Order: sequence, then C-alpha cells, then structure tokens
Amino acid sequence: MRGWTWGLGLLLGYAVMAAGGERRQPYFSWDTVPVYVHMCNESGPFNEEALAFMLRFAMITLEKGQGENVSVCCAEDKILEQAQVIKARRPDIHVLYYINSVLDWEMYRLHQHMLAHPEHWMYQQAGAPVRLRGDPTFPQPSDGMLVFNFTTAAGRQFWAQSCINMTQTGVIDGCFADRAQIGQLPGVSEADNAAYALGHHQVLRELQNQIPGYLISNNDNATDLDALMIETYQNDAASLHALMTAVAAGRLVQVHAGYHGIEHDSNCTNITNTLASFLIGAGERSYYGCSLGWYFDSWSHWNDEYTRPLGRPLANATRSGSVWERTFSAGVHVTFDESTGVGSIDWAAG
Ligand SMILES: *[C@@H]1O[C@H](CO)[C@@H](O)[C@H](O)[C@H]1NC(C)=O
Ligand SMILES: *[C@@H]1O[C@H](CO)[C@@H](O)[C@H](O)[C@H]1NC(C)=O
Ligand SMILES: *[C@@H]1O[C@H](CO)[C@@H](O)[C@H](O)[C@H]1NC(C)=O
Ligand SMILES: *[C@@H]1O[C@H](CO)[C@@H](O)[C@H](O)[C@H]1NC(C)=O
Ligand SMILES: *[C@@H]1O[C@H](CO)[C@@H](O)[C@H](O)[C@H]1NC(C)=O
Ligand SMILES: *[C@@H]1O[C@H](CO)[C@@H](O)[C@H](O)[C@H]1NC(C)=O
Ligand SMILES: *[C@@H]1O[C@H](CO)[C@@H](O)[C@H](O)[C@H]1NC(C)=O
Ligand SMILES: *[C@@H]1O[C@H](CO)[C@@H](O)[C@H](O)[C@H]1NC(C)=O
Repeated sequence: MRGWTWGLGLLLGYAVMAAGGERRQPYFSWDTVPVYVHMCNESGPFNEEALAFMLRFAMITLEKGQGENVSVCCAEDKILEQAQVIKARRPDIHVLYYINSVLDWEMYRLHQHMLAHPEHWMYQQAGAPVRLRGDPTFPQPSDGMLVFNFTTAAGRQFWAQSCINMTQTGVIDGCFADRAQIGQLPGVSEADNAAYALGHHQVLRELQNQIPGYLISNNDNATDLDALMIETYQNDAASLHALMTAVAAGRLVQVHAGYHGIEHDSNCTNITNTLASFLIGAGERSYYGCSLGWYFDSWSHWNDEYTRPLGRPLANATRSGSVWERTFSAGVHVTFDESTGVGSIDWAAG
C-alpha cells in the first residue's frame, strides 16, 4: 500500500499551493455547529461504527497514537491507512496528520531519520541533547525525547518534509503542528533560544504554503499563521478574546474545550458555557470540539447541540457590560457573560 500511495504522491506533489494557489478549504456551514474531531485508536484501524461516526465531522486530525499498541513501525503508515479509508468515503473531510513541532515522538519513521541526523538535534549549553517529556498518555522513553533544531534551513526542511510527504499522498490535506508556540527550551543558552524561537516560527510560516490544506499551529497566536487550535479553551474572557482575535485576523480556529470547568467534570456532556462562548466569537472558519483527551473514547460523543439548526449569524456579537449576545438566522439566541463564565443558548427562540 505504501508503495503506490507514495509514488502517486510524488506525481501529484509540488502542484499544491503553487504561487498564488488557493488553499484547499474544509467543509464549512452555519446550518449546524461546525465541529471537528482529533483522535486515534491505539489498537489499530477504526471499526465501522467509529468510521461512520467520524464522517459526521468537517475536519479529522489523526493523532500520533494511531495503532501505537501494534508493534510495527510506523505512525506515518498507520495514519495514512486511516486517511485513505476516510477520503475514499468522504473526500470533502479535511484530513490532518499529527506531527509534533518540538518532540521527536519515537513511534514515527521521522524518529529513525532523526537518530541518523544528530546535526538536527537541539543541544543544551552543557553539550547534551535536549530531552523533553510529552503528554503522559502516549508511550515515550522515561528520559524524554529529542527536540528538532530549527535554527538552520536544513533542520527546518528536515522536519517540514515529514508533513509535506504525507500531503503528497493525496489523502492528507494538511497537518496539525503540536507545541507550535514553544520558543524556549531548558538548558539552552539565551542566544540559542532566540534563534530557535525565530526558526520555529519560520518553519511553520514556510510549511503552511507548501501543503494543499491547513497547517494548524497548536496554541499559536501569531497572526501570520493561517490556523490554530486553542487547546485550553474555557469559559472565560481570555479564551473568547483569543478566538475573536484569531477570527479578526482571518484565521481558521479549532476551539478545544474539555480540560476545564463543567465540560471537564461532565465528560463533555454539558458543553453549554464554552459552546455559547464559541458561538459569540466564531467566524467563517471556526470549529468546535470537546474532549478530555486524545483517544477515540474521549471524542466519541455526538452532543444534541451538534444537530440543532443554527443558521448564519445575523451580525457580530454585541456586548453590554460583561455580557455578550448574538443571534443566528434559525432563531437561536446566545449569551455569554465573560466575567462569570456562564453561557446560554436558546435554541427555541425566534
Ligand atoms: C480499534 O482498533 C481495533 C483493531 O483494529 C478494533 O478491533 C477496534 O474496534 C477499534 N476501535 C474503534 C473504536 O475503532
Ligand atoms: C495499549 O498499551 C498501553 C501501554 O502498554 C496499555 O496501557 C493499554 O491498556 C493498551 N491498550 C489496549 C486497548 O490494549
Ligand atoms: C542546531 O543545529 C546546528 C547545525 O547542526 C548547530 O550548529 C547548532 O549548534 C544547533 N543548535 C543547538 C542549540 O543545538
Ligand atoms: C519524504 O519522501 C522522500 C521521497 O520519498 C524521502 O526520501 C524522505 O526520506 C521522506 N522524508 C520523510 C521525513 O519522511
Ligand atoms: C494565545 O493563545 C492561548 C491559547 O491558544 C490563549 O490562552 C491566550 O490567551 C492567547 N493570548 C492572547 C494574547 O491572545
Ligand atoms: C464582524 O467581525 C469580523 C471579524 O472580526 C470583521 O471582519 C467584520 O468587519 C465584522 N462585521 C461587522 C459588520 O462589524
Ligand atoms: C449545564 O451546567 C450548567 C451549570 O454550569 C447548568 O445550569 C445547566 O443546567 C447544565 N445543563 C445541562 C443540560 O445539564
Ligand atoms: C467519557 O465518555 C466516554 C464515551 O463518550 C467514555 O468512554 C469514557 O469512559 C468517559 N470518561 C469518563 C471519565 O467518564
């Protein structure tokens, strides 16, 4: 399978995002709440029920843990296999490849390339390679993982090529770059950290124009990057303002709730507060999601709100004191108090 896809990818390659090219857009509609999923199945290929569920979302990010409990290499192949299945059934779903922009996760083939290229590692001032641990729900060495060095053009290309290669298969639209906002590493000199921060931002800025779809930069507020996830979205003013800033800059936004508040405590069954805040701030390319983690179980809920008619916003939200409100064409009225964090969605209004 790998042979033909990668070969086809090379044929299709380079045509993408040629100068002046239009970025491939994910499906977007105000008919109902725009939603995405971002997950993996540690045991292997998704079953039919899981696939049918996933096909209801406009965007799907396939996480690094896809098939991680099956002891064959590598994450790239396992993600690609699922992307092929998804695209064959619903080509308009925007499929994204998860790649960490700091940590050299060891389930990737990219890790084998990394081992062979110590010139692309980040080193501490004392001489040893930087090693960092990641999300403890994914398997990793106890002393941490190597870190990509973005201070040289060759180092940036080395990492970016992994995403580019995946999109050249034709079944992956774009990539999700985790830890995109990191500019400081422990034990690294101030000068090296400054060069790293610049290089990290530069590789993301360059990569987004070398792929057909979106590069989602996790937690990155830089407005010259086309897309971000706000991973720690909660029912407060800071999250809403971050969403509004990103929308005003024309960016695609994935809002991710579920780490905090009643969303967390209810296992994403009660999403009223963050969904109300999302609807206050959402633009033409904003998508909502709620999960406690990054495996399928955490995402396998279809909330009633996702099926309700919404309609286009009649206007941008207005504000009176700390309370925002906005009305949608299906008669939906939303309020969100950014100081108390309480939201309301009146689906029956109008
Ligand atoms: C996860 O993968 C295993 C192996 O392919 C499969 O048996 C199981 O049903 C899958 N679970 C889901 C939720 O897709
Ligand atoms: C996957 O592997 C981890 C670590 O070995 C283990 O904790 C987990 O139970 C495994 N999952 C399944 C579904 O077997
Ligand atoms: C990054 O890589 C370059 C090229 O190998 C090397 O000269 C530089 O020392 C590295 N920077 C750090 C902080 O490791
Ligand atoms: C990308 O694909 C090229 C051509 O097949 C290959 O030489 C290279 O090793 C790949 N790079 C990565 C990071 O997968
Ligand atoms: C930047 O983004 C993060 C999360 O994505 C958010 O918590 C933070 O408030 C944002 N900062 C600004 C200045 O918007
Ligand atoms: C609504 O907000 C968007 C994004 O911030 C802005 O571009 C647009 O001009 C606003 N529309 C109106 C009518 O104020
Ligand atoms: C959700 O939680 C809020 C409190 O934050 C509560 O007022 C509301 O009744 C809950 N909604 C549901 C459907 O449980
Ligand atoms: C959350 O819900 C999912 C199914 O939607 C379930 O698999 C998981 O065990 C639940 N987690 C908790 C902490 O209740």
